[in-house]
Amino acid sequence: MKIFFLLSVFVRGQYAPTDFPDTTTGDSSDISCWHCDAVNMTECDNIGAMKPCLGENQVCMIEVRKREGELEQICMGCKSRRACLDNKKQNSKGKWKNHQCRPEAWWKRAPSVCRQCCNDSDNCARDFVLINDGVGPLLASEWNEDLII
Ligand SMILES: *[C@@H]1O[C@H](CO)[C@@H](O)[C@H](O)[C@H]1NC(C)=O
Ligand SMILES: *[C@@H]1O[C@H](CO)[C@@H](O)[C@H](O)[C@H]1NC(C)=O
Repeated sequence: MKIFFLLSVFVRGQYAPTDFPDTTTGDSSDISCWHCDAVNMTECDNIGAMKPCLGENQVCMIEVRKREGELEQICMGCKSRRACLDNKKQNSKGKWKNHQCRPEAWWKRAPSVCRQCCNDSDNCARDFVLINDGVGPLLASEWNEDLII
């Protein structure tokens, strides 16, 4: 999978994006996102793949679940901007102690679910979770930052 990824980067470097015949949407401005559903970033890299985003699904969404302060699940892939931002709102809904996104390592009161949405590069979702050795940012403020630029 690593080789495939390097190869796709290599191939991409050889041609302008518009040189690819796009039979799915006809839109050369489509982004791509890394896709995976995995227990950690090692597995995400091993089983995941870079895929072009189709239709209105033009942002990369990230969802990281933790339990007892420990990473439990990583999910990433293309999503519509609206759906991704709607899910992201759940990060910090309600009272602080009830927020779903509690990425701090010391938070053990309840499971944590943090979402983020980005579109500044095809690797933005991977890059985001690779922070802190693959558990993602440990501050909710970084999960709530606007990364759609
Ligand atoms: C990641 O998950 C895989 C699959 O469960 C496991 O074999 C591996 O040890 C884990 N790696 C880390 C760094 O936790
Ligand atoms: C990211 O999304 C925003 C809002 O939809 C858009 O204006 C911007 O051009 C997108 N950026 C990239 C690099 O695709």
